[in-house]
Amino acid sequence: MSTLLMDCSARNELSISRELTRYLAEGLGESITDRDLGNTSFPSLSGQDLIDLHNAKRIDRPSLVRHHFFADQFIDELRSATSLVVGVPIYNFTVPAVLKQWVDYVLQPGVTFKYESGSAVGLCDNLRNVYIVTSSGGTPVGGEKDFASSYFSFVCKFIGARNIELIDAGGSKRERKQIVVQARSRIDQILSNQRLVAIK
Ligand SMILES: Cc1cc2nc3c(=O)[nH]c(=O)nc-3n(C[C@H](O)[C@H](O)[C@H](O)COP(=O)(O)O)c2cc1C
Repeated sequence: MSTLLMDCSARNELSISRELTRYLAEGLGESITDRDLGNTSFPSLSGQDLIDLHNAKRIDRPSLVRHHFFADQFIDELRSATSLVVGVPIYNFTVPAVLKQWVDYVLQPGVTFKYESGSAVGLCDNLRNVYIVTSSGGTPVGGEKDFASSYFSFVCKFIGARNIELIDAGGSKRERKQIVVQARSRIDQILSNQRLVAIK
């Protein structure tokens, strides 16, 4: 049992999502692999590299080899995890660009998903639980202008995640303490429900 903890915030100490994802991941009590996307510099993806990645194609082109270097690590981490905890700050109504690039890296046919009789089948059924902690300034989390939570939940289901929990850490224009207390209480509730299920 292991947890992949992914953070995307461009902030460090001040980040609300980082504080909450750490709290949640530690509460799960599994071994943790940290993947700090917010502090990772990715090479930019050219059109041709994106197409080749999307087709899981391996060609000896230096730029593509560099992208596969990242993609292979991310896919290994994903395939080894039973839980994924991810902090998703809403940036311009959707996920941070680094998280979108992570998605562009890991969504490879025959690797994380496949098509069977015209329907998509996720190959990451190792992922029992995904916890998405969404932070925002004013955009209500889960509302019609939050394209981040809905998008990332969909991606996780697409690759085979079984259960998805959304944690609302939105509204950082309010007092930070209030947001953290509310979100922690939701996390405590999720963790205690899971302990009950594990005991049964
Ligand atoms: C580039 C950028 C774009 C942002 N766009 C939005 C937005 O569309 N809607 C919103 O409610 N907040 C937006 N925010 C505010 C962040 O979502 C908010 O500060 C959140 O708390 C960031 O997560 P963090 O506390 O984990 O760093 C934006 C912040 C940045 C830096």
